[in-house]
Amino acid sequence: MIITVYNTKGGVGKSPISALIAKEMDYKILTNDDSINEDFLSDIVEFQEKVNIKGRDNIVIDLGGWIDDNTIQILKSSDVVLVPFNSKPNAIKRTIGLISDLKDLGIDYNLIFTMYESVQEFDKTIEKFKLEDIEVDYKFPKTKLLDTLIEKNLKLFDIKRDKTLNNWYKNHLTIFKELIFDLKGL
Ligand SMILES: Nc1ncnc2c1ncn2[C@@H]1O[C@H](COP(=O)(O)OP(=O)(O)O)[C@@H](O)[C@H]1O
Ligand SMILES: [Mg+2]
Repeated sequence: MIITVYNTKGGVGKSPISALIAKEMDYKILTNDDSINEDFLSDIVEFQEKVNIKGRDNIVIDLGGWIDDNTIQILKSSDVVLVPFNSKPNAIKRTIGLISDLKDLGIDYNLIFTMYESVQEFDKTIEKFKLEDIEVDYKFPKTKLLDTLIEKNLKLFDIKRDKTLNNWYKNHLTIFKELIFDLKGL
């Protein structure tokens, strides 16, 4: 399966989400983002300035940059396209543009609202930017859990057993598990 995590906007959580999925699914990450942390992920990350998926399978593509022919080809060849975004005005604007482009191109996608702080924050964002018509598939809480998973090289199912992590983290597990469950069921 080819899973692409894409947004033209940076700082929306593409890399931690890609890392989470790759670890859980035992996939490699292909990325055109050279800021991904190579120290932690060097065993699973492959950097390519122009991502080439020819002959590849079981990969997560952590994809940034504007839509060009190569991007369109990758998106069209993907089994799943995940689009993370957050409540920052620039992220919203870019994401609205991106959704419209994906629709025009006939590419299916799932939206992930990341760095979720509260129900109020989410509702306010939807209202402020008149996003009532868009369907958000996952809401991920703002958390250091993803960085911790990467740093400690843990999988979601190992977390409960890790005594150094508190229950606050453990409460965040459910929603991440839901995404992984859905992906594994495809
Ligand atoms: N729910 C979440 N999903 C993804 N990232 C999150 C979340 N909560 C906090 N973060 C943090 O936000 C940052 C995401 O930024 P970054 O990795 O630069 O995104 P991108 O790869 O899209 O440029 C990371 O440091 C990550 O730990
Ligand atoms: Mg990144």
